[in-house]
Amino acid sequence: MIPRLGVNIDHVATLRQQRDEGYPSIVDAATHALRGGADQITIHLREDRRHIQDTDVQSVHLVTKEFGKPLNLEMGCSDEIAEIAIVSQPEWICLVPEKREEKTTEGGLDVMGEENFTKIKSMMAKLREGISDVKISLFVEADEEVMRKSIELGADAVEIHTGQYAKEFLDNGDTDSHIELYKKAYNVVKDTSVGYHAGHGLSLDSVIPLLQLNIFKEYNIGHWIVSQAVFEGLQPVIQKFCKVFKEHEL
Ligand code: PXP
Repeated sequence: MIPRLGVNIDHVATLRQQRDEGYPSIVDAATHALRGGADQITIHLREDRRHIQDTDVQSVHLVTKEFGKPLNLEMGCSDEIAEIAIVSQPEWICLVPEKREEKTTEGGLDVMGEENFTKIKSMMAKLREGISDVKISLFVEADEEVMRKSIELGADAVEIHTGQYAKEFLDNGDTDSHIELYKKAYNVVKDTSVGYHAGHGLSLDSVIPLLQLNIFKEYNIGHWIVSQAVFEGLQPVIQKFCKVFKEHEL
């Protein structure tokens, strides 16, 4: 099996939101990403609406449906966003922690604290009730206890936060310790039905050592792809990822 590539197009919307001209088009971005070979489109509807807007969720979903591919909607545990998700009926929801002051998602969900555990559990129940056949992933740190809690929550997948690893990779720092944690956490979920996904901060170079591990079934990558697309175009950049992914079939 070739690992799946989810392309996060939030930052096309970031560029659009800088002005009120309606370009670059998020619909065109989704179309180009899927033509380039993306297996799904990922978008994050933040409470502060800094990039993706409510109407984008429906319009991007129309595109993914046309291509027969899933929409992965990232969201915090917010009732307001859950209502929009229920109207939009995405195939996947990825629950993430969300802080208004952060530049981007800074870490995994806290599933260990009792209050947070209960909050996530009830949000998952609400989403499952409102969205038929929805699959839910939890964006979490690679930690064995966190994996056990995610299994207990009934997650369909965990998406491992690779932000720190990606930073170390860019700084020529210690990536090995992160890789060890990814392997250990995988051992907890590998014999369950919980999917093992990865995302945050990854580039065409930093994804390769992770592909070599043969443990992640899906990657969600956005900022680097959209940045590199300035020079190469969205489709060629995504095609490069697809080529590398194919060389690392699971
Ligand atoms: N996965 C999750 C859960 C995220 O929050 C993000 C950022 O929105 C990504 C993947 C993609 O991260 P990046 O844009 O750094 O590639």
